[in-house]
Amino acid sequence: MKKKIKDYWETRLPQTWYSAKTPFTRAWLDELRFKRYVVFYPFLEKEGEFRNHYDEKVLEVGCGIGTDIAEFGKYGADITAVDLTKEAVLNTLKMLNLYKIPCTRTDVRIADAEKLPFEKDTFDFIYSFGVLHHTPDTKAAVYEIKRVLKPGKTAVIFLYNRGLEYWRNVLKNYVFNGEFLRMTLQESLNLHSEVKGNCLLAKYYNRQEIEDLFKHFEILKLRRVRMGYVLDSFYNLDGSYKQGLSLLMVKLAAMLDIGSYLGDLWEIKVLK
Ligand SMILES: C[S@@+](CC[C@H](N)C(=O)[O-])C[C@H]1O[C@@H](n2cnc3c(N)ncnc32)[C@H](O)[C@@H]1O
Repeated sequence: MKKKIKDYWETRLPQTWYSAKTPFTRAWLDELRFKRYVVFYPFLEKEGEFRNHYDEKVLEVGCGIGTDIAEFGKYGADITAVDLTKEAVLNTLKMLNLYKIPCTRTDVRIADAEKLPFEKDTFDFIYSFGVLHHTPDTKAAVYEIKRVLKPGKTAVIFLYNRGLEYWRNVLKNYVFNGEFLRMTLQESLNLHSEVKGNCLLAKYYNRQEIEDLFKHFEILKLRRVRMGYVLDSFYNLDGSYKQGLSLLMVKLAAMLDIGSYLGDLWEIKVLK
């Protein structure tokens, strides 16, 4: 299973669909950052705490193409990034190079979240976005985060919620399109999760399950964020709004903080 998951991600690098420009040029990066931090995940720069860890040892688990870990580096953290795939590591190295982050302050490696290659009590802060719901033993990965985090320090992790996107998938694909006749619910969810689809494993959690997963930490923050499909449908990929009413809908959703009720992601901040 792990080998298949690795092969899937080797050929489906996250975030690359944000821009059609030449990868690792300044214009490409500007567009990518705009899409990620302004359009699709406007909460991320603050809630991900990119600016808060100057001179601290920060680990990102599942770094993809390295956009977020580069932000920590930009604000002076001593950064380590791991991912299951070689492609992610190569791309993250290019990203850090684009940011001109000195390699004396970086460590990027292939590693499995379920078995991190670090001593216990190594990091001051750990960050992971949209990763641990794709690994078979999420419990083991959470345990590993606790093991390598220093006592008294925090981690911020984002995982899929059983929110609107989940129910949309269940009703549209599993029920109405009759996938329940051909496959299990988990297989149907895997098939329709992620931008490129046909993902090998995508788990969605309710509040109780998140509390269980993180029961060996003190949970400092647990809230739903991001309206996923609902808000994405108002945007074109260039970040402009599709229809006249879209801007109004997006503003209204933000004003009413609808994401905190129906959001597709859990934002989890925990203390060891
Ligand atoms: C949806 S992408 C998210 C990447 C990045 N955090 C982002 O937000 O763009 C999932 C990433 O998790 C990585 N991944 C999946 N399972 C993993 C595991 N067990 N250990 C480390 N990385 C893993 C994949 O290779 C992929 O790069």
